[in-house]
Amino acid sequence: MTAQILTALPVVDHLKSDLKSRVAELKSRGVIPCMSVVLVGDNPASLSYIRNKKKLCEEVGSTFKLVQLPTSISEKDFLQQLKSLNQDLTIHGIIIQLPVSDHLKKLDIANLVVPEKDIDGFHKDNTNAIYSGSTNLKLMLPCTPKGVLYLLKFYGIELAGKHVVVIGRSLIVGKPLSMLMSNFDATVTLAHSKTKNLAEITKIADIIVVAIGKTHFIHASHLNPSKKTIIIDVGMNTLNGKLTGDVAPDVLNVAGAVTPVPGGVGPMTVLSLIENLITAAENKFKG
Ligand SMILES: NC(=O)c1ccc[n+]([C@@H]2O[C@H](COP(=O)([O-])OP(=O)(O)OC[C@H]3O[C@@H](n4cnc5c(N)ncnc54)[C@H](OP(=O)(O)O)[C@@H]3O)[C@@H](O)[C@H]2O)c1
Repeated sequence: MTAQILTALPVVDHLKSDLKSRVAELKSRGVIPCMSVVLVGDNPASLSYIRNKKKLCEEVGSTFKLVQLPTSISEKDFLQQLKSLNQDLTIHGIIIQLPVSDHLKKLDIANLVVPEKDIDGFHKDNTNAIYSGSTNLKLMLPCTPKGVLYLLKFYGIELAGKHVVVIGRSLIVGKPLSMLMSNFDATVTLAHSKTKNLAEITKIADIIVVAIGKTHFIHASHLNPSKKTIIIDVGMNTLNGKLTGDVAPDVLNVAGAVTPVPGGVGPMTVLSLIENLITAAENKFKG
Protein backbone atom coordinates (compact mmCIF):
# COMPACT_ATOMS: atom_id res chain seq x y z
CA MET A 1 0.00 0.00 0.00
CA THR A 2 1.51 3.32 -1.06
CA ALA A 3 -1.39 5.79 -0.97
CA GLN A 4 -1.65 8.40 1.76
CA ILE A 5 -4.87 7.96 3.78
CA LEU A 6 -6.69 11.26 4.11
CA THR A 7 -8.56 10.66 7.37
CA ALA A 8 -11.08 13.17 8.67
CA LEU A 9 -9.99 12.88 12.31
CA PRO A 10 -7.25 15.57 12.37
CA VAL A 11 -9.42 17.89 10.24
CA VAL A 12 -12.41 17.47 12.54
CA ASP A 13 -10.23 18.02 15.64
CA HIS A 14 -8.75 21.15 14.09
CA LEU A 15 -12.09 22.66 13.00
CA LYS A 16 -13.96 21.54 16.13
CA SER A 17 -11.89 23.77 18.39
CA ASP A 18 -12.79 26.76 16.19
CA LEU A 19 -16.49 25.81 16.37
CA LYS A 20 -16.31 25.52 20.18
CA SER A 21 -14.91 29.03 20.50
CA ARG A 22 -17.58 30.41 18.14
CA VAL A 23 -20.28 28.79 20.30
CA ALA A 24 -18.66 30.21 23.46
CA GLU A 25 -18.75 33.68 21.87
CA LEU A 26 -22.45 33.21 21.02
CA LYS A 27 -23.20 32.05 24.56
CA SER A 28 -21.53 35.17 25.95
CA ARG A 29 -24.13 37.11 23.93
CA GLY A 30 -26.98 34.97 25.28
CA VAL A 31 -27.45 32.66 22.30
CA ILE A 32 -27.15 28.87 22.38
CA PRO A 33 -27.25 27.45 18.83
CA CYS A 34 -30.00 24.86 18.53
CA MET A 35 -30.46 22.33 15.74
CA SER A 36 -33.76 20.65 15.05
CA VAL A 37 -33.97 17.44 13.03
CA VAL A 38 -37.32 16.44 11.57
CA LEU A 39 -37.57 12.67 11.18
CA VAL A 40 -40.55 10.95 9.60
CA GLY A 41 -40.72 7.35 10.87
CA ASP A 42 -37.88 5.39 12.47
CA ASN A 43 -35.57 4.28 9.67
CA PRO A 44 -32.54 2.72 11.50
CA ALA A 45 -30.00 4.27 9.09
CA SER A 46 -31.58 7.71 9.60
CA LEU A 47 -31.51 7.25 13.39
CA SER A 48 -27.81 6.37 13.20
CA TYR A 49 -27.01 9.50 11.11
CA ILE A 50 -29.04 11.59 13.56
CA ARG A 51 -27.06 10.21 16.53
CA ASN A 52 -23.80 11.37 14.85
CA LYS A 53 -25.25 14.84 14.28
CA LYS A 54 -26.50 15.10 17.87
CA LYS A 55 -23.14 13.97 19.27
CA LEU A 56 -21.05 16.58 17.45
CA CYS A 57 -23.70 19.24 17.98
CA GLU A 58 -23.51 18.75 21.75
CA GLU A 59 -19.71 18.36 21.76
CA VAL A 60 -19.29 21.92 20.49
CA GLY A 61 -21.80 23.26 23.06
CA SER A 62 -24.94 23.50 20.90
CA THR A 63 -28.29 21.95 21.66
CA PHE A 64 -30.31 19.46 19.67
CA LYS A 65 -34.03 18.80 19.28
CA LEU A 66 -35.42 15.75 17.50
CA VAL A 67 -38.93 16.12 16.09
CA GLN A 68 -40.04 12.57 15.28
CA LEU A 69 -43.24 12.30 13.26
CA PRO A 70 -45.33 9.23 12.33
CA THR A 71 -44.94 7.90 8.77
CA SER A 72 -48.71 8.41 8.36
CA ILE A 73 -48.51 12.17 9.07
CA SER A 74 -50.65 14.16 6.67
CA GLU A 75 -49.07 16.65 4.27
CA LYS A 76 -50.91 19.46 6.05
CA ASP A 77 -49.62 18.49 9.53
CA PHE A 78 -46.08 17.99 8.19
CA LEU A 79 -46.11 21.50 6.69
CA GLN A 80 -47.52 22.89 9.93
CA GLN A 81 -44.67 21.32 11.93
CA LEU A 82 -42.15 22.96 9.61
CA LYS A 83 -43.91 26.28 9.79
CA SER A 84 -43.72 26.32 13.58
CA LEU A 85 -40.01 25.33 13.54
CA ASN A 86 -39.31 28.01 10.94
CA GLN A 87 -40.94 30.57 13.24
CA ASP A 88 -39.41 29.33 16.52
CA LEU A 89 -36.82 31.92 17.62
CA THR A 90 -34.96 29.38 19.79
CA ILE A 91 -34.18 27.13 16.78
CA HIS A 92 -31.31 28.25 14.52
CA GLY A 93 -31.01 25.33 12.12
CA ILE A 94 -33.48 22.77 10.75
CA ILE A 95 -32.92 19.64 8.71
CA ILE A 96 -35.47 17.31 7.23
CA GLN A 97 -33.90 13.87 7.51
CA LEU A 98 -34.28 11.98 4.24
CA PRO A 99 -35.95 9.79 3.18
CA VAL A 100 -39.44 10.99 4.09
CA SER A 101 -42.60 8.89 3.51
CA ASP A 102 -43.53 8.39 -0.15
CA HIS A 103 -46.64 10.59 0.08
CA LEU A 104 -44.47 13.56 1.19
CA LYS A 105 -41.90 13.19 -1.60
CA LYS A 106 -43.91 15.34 -3.98
CA LEU A 107 -43.36 18.34 -1.67
CA ASP A 108 -40.59 20.78 -2.52
CA ILE A 109 -38.53 19.44 0.42
CA ALA A 110 -35.36 21.41 -0.45
CA ASN A 111 -37.19 24.72 -0.07
CA LEU A 112 -39.42 24.04 2.95
CA VAL A 113 -36.93 25.27 5.54
CA VAL A 114 -36.44 29.04 5.46
CA PRO A 115 -33.01 29.91 3.96
CA GLU A 116 -31.69 31.41 7.25
CA LYS A 117 -32.22 28.04 9.00
CA ASP A 118 -31.39 25.80 6.03
CA ILE A 119 -28.24 24.23 7.47
CA ASP A 120 -28.33 21.43 4.86
CA GLY A 121 -27.66 24.16 2.29
CA PHE A 122 -30.33 22.89 -0.10
CA HIS A 123 -32.55 25.99 -0.38
CA LYS A 124 -32.29 27.73 -3.76
CA ASP A 125 -31.29 31.00 -2.07
CA ASN A 126 -28.28 29.20 -0.56
CA THR A 127 -27.30 27.21 -3.66
CA ASN A 128 -27.37 30.43 -5.71
CA ALA A 129 -24.03 31.41 -4.13
CA ILE A 130 -22.45 28.36 -5.74
CA TYR A 131 -23.68 29.25 -9.20
CA SER A 132 -22.56 32.84 -8.84
CA GLY A 133 -18.96 31.72 -8.35
CA SER A 134 -18.44 32.02 -4.59
CA THR A 135 -15.40 30.48 -2.87
CA ASN A 136 -16.56 31.48 0.61
CA LEU A 137 -16.71 28.26 2.64
CA LYS A 138 -18.40 30.07 5.55
CA LEU A 139 -21.65 30.31 3.54
CA MET A 140 -24.47 27.80 4.08
CA LEU A 141 -23.27 25.40 1.42
CA PRO A 142 -24.43 21.79 0.99
CA CYS A 143 -22.58 19.81 3.66
CA THR A 144 -20.83 17.04 1.75
CA PRO A 145 -19.30 19.36 -0.90
CA LYS A 146 -18.29 21.79 1.85
CA GLY A 147 -16.76 18.96 3.90
CA VAL A 148 -14.75 17.71 0.90
CA LEU A 149 -13.38 21.22 0.30
CA TYR A 150 -12.39 21.60 3.97
CA LEU A 151 -10.63 18.23 3.84
CA LEU A 152 -8.67 19.15 0.68
CA LYS A 153 -7.73 22.50 2.21
CA PHE A 154 -6.49 20.89 5.44
CA TYR A 155 -4.26 18.46 3.54
CA GLY A 156 -2.90 21.29 1.35
CA ILE A 157 -4.37 19.86 -1.87
CA GLU A 158 -4.68 22.70 -4.38
CA LEU A 159 -7.54 22.76 -6.88
CA ALA A 160 -6.43 25.57 -9.19
CA GLY A 161 -5.39 24.19 -12.57
CA LYS A 162 -6.12 20.56 -11.60
CA HIS A 163 -8.29 18.24 -13.64
CA VAL A 164 -11.00 16.89 -11.34
CA VAL A 165 -13.33 14.10 -12.40
CA VAL A 166 -16.50 14.03 -10.29
CA ILE A 167 -18.48 10.81 -10.78
CA GLY A 168 -22.15 11.14 -9.82
CA ARG A 169 -24.34 14.17 -10.53
CA SER A 170 -26.76 14.30 -7.58
CA LEU A 171 -28.14 17.59 -6.32
CA ILE A 172 -26.61 17.05 -2.88
CA VAL A 173 -23.08 16.00 -3.89
CA GLY A 174 -21.90 15.80 -7.50
CA LYS A 175 -23.52 18.88 -9.04
CA PRO A 176 -22.74 21.41 -6.27
CA LEU A 177 -19.26 19.99 -5.67
CA SER A 178 -18.30 20.12 -9.35
CA MET A 179 -19.44 23.76 -9.54
CA LEU A 180 -17.62 24.70 -6.33
CA MET A 181 -14.42 23.06 -7.55
CA SER A 182 -14.72 25.06 -10.76
CA ASN A 183 -15.07 28.20 -8.58
CA PHE A 184 -11.70 27.22 -7.09
CA ASP A 185 -10.27 27.13 -10.65
CA ALA A 186 -10.21 23.36 -11.18
CA THR A 187 -11.09 22.02 -14.62
CA VAL A 188 -14.01 19.71 -13.88
CA THR A 189 -15.47 16.76 -15.75
CA LEU A 190 -18.83 15.62 -14.36
CA ALA A 191 -19.36 11.94 -15.15
CA HIS A 192 -22.49 9.84 -14.62
CA SER A 193 -24.11 6.53 -15.52
CA LYS A 194 -24.26 7.36 -19.25
CA THR A 195 -20.60 8.40 -19.47
CA LYS A 196 -18.72 6.32 -22.03
CA ASN A 197 -15.15 5.08 -21.51
CA LEU A 198 -15.00 6.29 -17.91
CA ALA A 199 -11.56 4.75 -17.31
CA GLU A 200 -10.07 6.85 -20.12
CA ILE A 201 -11.33 9.96 -18.35
CA THR A 202 -10.32 8.92 -14.82
CA LYS A 203 -6.80 8.02 -16.04
CA ILE A 204 -6.12 11.66 -16.91
CA ALA A 205 -7.58 13.05 -13.68
CA ASP A 206 -5.47 14.63 -10.94
CA ILE A 207 -8.33 14.22 -8.48
CA ILE A 208 -11.30 11.83 -8.65
CA VAL A 209 -14.41 12.28 -6.53
CA VAL A 210 -16.68 9.25 -6.63
CA ALA A 211 -20.24 9.62 -5.32
CA ILE A 212 -22.39 6.96 -6.91
CA GLY A 213 -23.29 4.44 -4.20
CA LYS A 214 -21.74 1.34 -5.83
CA THR A 215 -19.46 -0.80 -3.67
CA HIS A 216 -15.82 -0.87 -4.86
CA PHE A 217 -16.72 0.59 -8.26
CA ILE A 218 -13.43 2.42 -8.84
CA HIS A 219 -10.52 0.00 -9.27
CA ALA A 220 -6.79 0.30 -9.81
CA SER A 221 -7.55 -0.20 -13.53
CA HIS A 222 -9.28 3.22 -13.56
CA LEU A 223 -5.99 4.93 -12.64
CA ASN A 224 -2.71 5.86 -14.26
CA PRO A 225 -0.11 4.98 -11.58
CA SER A 226 2.23 7.77 -12.72
CA LYS A 227 -0.45 10.39 -11.93
CA LYS A 228 -0.57 9.54 -8.19
CA THR A 229 -4.27 10.44 -8.32
CA ILE A 230 -6.05 11.80 -5.24
CA ILE A 231 -9.33 9.98 -4.65
CA ILE A 232 -12.23 11.27 -2.60
CA ASP A 233 -14.61 8.42 -1.79
CA VAL A 234 -18.08 9.76 -0.94
CA GLY A 235 -19.88 6.42 -1.29
CA MET A 236 -21.63 4.81 1.66
CA ASN A 237 -22.55 1.21 0.95
CA THR A 238 -22.93 -1.91 3.05
CA LEU A 239 -20.83 -4.98 2.32
CA ASN A 240 -21.19 -8.00 4.63
CA GLY A 241 -22.73 -5.73 7.24
CA LYS A 242 -19.87 -3.21 7.09
CA LEU A 243 -19.85 0.36 5.82
CA THR A 244 -17.82 0.57 2.63
CA GLY A 245 -17.14 3.10 -0.09
CA ASP A 246 -17.22 3.28 -3.89
CA VAL A 247 -13.47 2.66 -4.12
CA ALA A 248 -11.88 -0.80 -4.17
CA PRO A 249 -8.92 -1.62 -1.88
CA ASP A 250 -6.56 -2.32 -4.84
CA VAL A 251 -6.56 1.43 -5.52
CA LEU A 252 -4.36 1.90 -2.44
CA ASN A 253 -1.42 0.45 -4.39
CA VAL A 254 -1.61 2.99 -7.23
CA ALA A 255 -3.29 6.16 -6.01
CA GLY A 256 -1.45 9.09 -4.43
CA ALA A 257 -3.99 9.55 -1.64
CA VAL A 258 -7.44 8.17 -0.75
CA THR A 259 -10.11 9.11 1.78
CA PRO A 260 -11.16 6.10 3.90
CA VAL A 261 -14.71 4.82 4.41
CA PRO A 262 -15.61 5.02 7.22
CA GLY A 263 -13.66 7.96 8.64
CA GLY A 264 -13.35 10.20 5.58
CA VAL A 265 -16.09 12.23 3.90
CA GLY A 266 -18.84 11.11 6.36
CA PRO A 267 -17.43 12.93 9.44
CA MET A 268 -16.57 15.95 7.26
CA THR A 269 -20.24 16.15 6.22
CA VAL A 270 -21.45 16.18 9.83
CA LEU A 271 -18.83 18.77 10.77
CA SER A 272 -20.00 21.04 7.94
CA LEU A 273 -23.59 20.71 9.13
CA ILE A 274 -22.59 21.93 12.60
CA GLU A 275 -20.56 24.72 11.01
CA ASN A 276 -23.67 25.80 9.09
CA LEU A 277 -25.68 25.73 12.34
CA ILE A 278 -23.24 28.05 14.09
CA THR A 279 -23.13 30.35 11.06
CA ALA A 280 -26.94 30.48 11.11
CA ALA A 281 -26.91 31.47 14.80
CA GLU A 282 -24.18 34.11 14.17
CA ASN A 283 -26.10 35.53 11.20
CA LYS A 284 -28.91 36.53 13.56
CA PHE A 285 -26.63 39.29 14.85
CA LYS A 286 -25.95 40.61 11.37
CA GLY A 287 -28.13 43.21 9.69
N1 LIG B 1 -20.32 10.42 3.02
C1 LIG B 1 -21.36 11.24 3.06
O1 LIG B 1 -21.49 12.11 3.90
C2 LIG B 1 -22.39 11.11 1.98
C3 LIG B 1 -23.30 12.14 1.72
C4 LIG B 1 -24.21 11.99 0.67
C5 LIG B 1 -24.22 10.82 -0.08
N2 LIG B 1 -23.34 9.82 0.24
C6 LIG B 1 -23.28 8.58 -0.52
O2 LIG B 1 -22.82 8.90 -1.83
C7 LIG B 1 -23.37 7.98 -2.76
C8 LIG B 1 -24.09 8.77 -3.85
O3 LIG B 1 -25.21 9.42 -3.28
P1 LIG B 1 -25.88 10.69 -3.99
O4 LIG B 1 -27.11 10.97 -3.20
O5 LIG B 1 -24.86 11.74 -4.20
O6 LIG B 1 -26.22 10.16 -5.44
P2 LIG B 1 -27.56 9.49 -6.03
O7 LIG B 1 -28.67 10.48 -5.99
O8 LIG B 1 -27.73 8.16 -5.39
O9 LIG B 1 -27.14 9.33 -7.56
C9 LIG B 1 -26.12 8.47 -7.95
C10 LIG B 1 -25.32 9.12 -9.04
O10 LIG B 1 -24.35 8.16 -9.46
C11 LIG B 1 -24.40 8.02 -10.87
N3 LIG B 1 -24.08 6.64 -11.22
C12 LIG B 1 -24.77 5.53 -10.88
N4 LIG B 1 -24.16 4.44 -11.41
C13 LIG B 1 -23.09 4.89 -12.11
C14 LIG B 1 -22.10 4.28 -12.88
N5 LIG B 1 -22.09 2.95 -13.05
N6 LIG B 1 -21.14 5.04 -13.45
C15 LIG B 1 -21.13 6.39 -13.29
N7 LIG B 1 -22.06 7.05 -12.56
C16 LIG B 1 -23.04 6.30 -11.98
C17 LIG B 1 -25.84 8.36 -11.26
O11 LIG B 1 -25.85 8.75 -12.63
P3 LIG B 1 -27.22 9.23 -13.38
O12 LIG B 1 -27.40 10.66 -12.95
O13 LIG B 1 -26.88 9.10 -14.82
O14 LIG B 1 -28.31 8.32 -12.91
C18 LIG B 1 -26.15 9.49 -10.29
O15 LIG B 1 -25.72 10.74 -10.80
C19 LIG B 1 -24.28 7.06 -1.95
O16 LIG B 1 -23.53 5.92 -1.56
C20 LIG B 1 -24.60 7.88 -0.72
O17 LIG B 1 -24.93 7.10 0.40
C21 LIG B 1 -22.43 9.95 1.23
